[in-house]
Amino acid sequence: MPVKLEHVLKRIQALPPLPTSAMRVIALTKNPATSARELENVIGQDPALAAGMLRQANSAYYGYARRISSLQEAIVVLGFQATQGLAMASAVAPVLKTQLLGYEIEHEGLWKHSMLTAMAAKSLCKKLKLPHGDVAFTAGLLHDIGKLVISIYVQEVGAYLLDKVTSAKLSYVELEEKIIGFNHATVGGFLAKGWNLPDDLVESISCHHAPSSAKNYIELASIIHVANGIACLLGIGGGVDSFLNPLQQEALDRLSLKEANLEHIMADLGESLLDPTIFA
Ligand SMILES: [Fe+2]
Ligand SMILES: [Fe+2]
Repeated sequence: MPVKLEHVLKRIQALPPLPTSAMRVIALTKNPATSARELENVIGQDPALAAGMLRQANSAYYGYARRISSLQEAIVVLGFQATQGLAMASAVAPVLKTQLLGYEIEHEGLWKHSMLTAMAAKSLCKKLKLPHGDVAFTAGLLHDIGKLVISIYVQEVGAYLLDKVTSAKLSYVELEEKIIGFNHATVGGFLAKGWNLPDDLVESISCHHAPSSAKNYIELASIIHVANGIACLLGIGGGVDSFLNPLQQEALDRLSLKEANLEHIMADLGESLLDPTIFA
């Protein structure tokens, strides 16, 4: 059935665009000359974005005892880089909350999986003392967006894919590529590029199941690969393929991660899952 590239690109164009305000937040937070006031003005012009950000800033994940009640406070308390993650989470939540039949992902399932991957990615960076925790958060949040585009094709060949995945000795993502012609990671990269997202996000999204193929951001791609594995192991998977895309030992070795590190992060995240506001 290989699908033509033009069909995939048409489906990408049919998705709601990333709000301009969210794109501007990304550009502003990347620029060291930006002031908190400028950032506040841009976010303040988009009431839906601002409301979503405040709701999330007050979720259990950020763990502030006191209520964050204004944008200004959120920016100051959380910092510029975390503000970028918050803006992106608020911007993509509505699309990630949709049900994806092809992958057998229920309503809000992809949102929870994406948030948990984002949190795991940030925790991994902290554990490994890597500087890009907030970029990793945003990449984790967006890593499976390609599923929104190709779920419809997966739906057509789902039974065949599941049947083949055991006999063909291929991972689910390799089979997507073979049967559909594209896998959700590559398509996610196209989508991120179409949204004009920075290269580190584009590459870590498109290489999250094959981090060794990353050219410039192999460490970030490996972080997202492992973070996705953690979310799946915690049972908050992205769908039918959760355990059919194995966690690569090579990625763990590249990051010098031991099993004990993973267990530690999983225990911490498992505890936060007990709080119902975590996926606000
Ligand atoms: Fe994925
Ligand atoms: Fe995933």
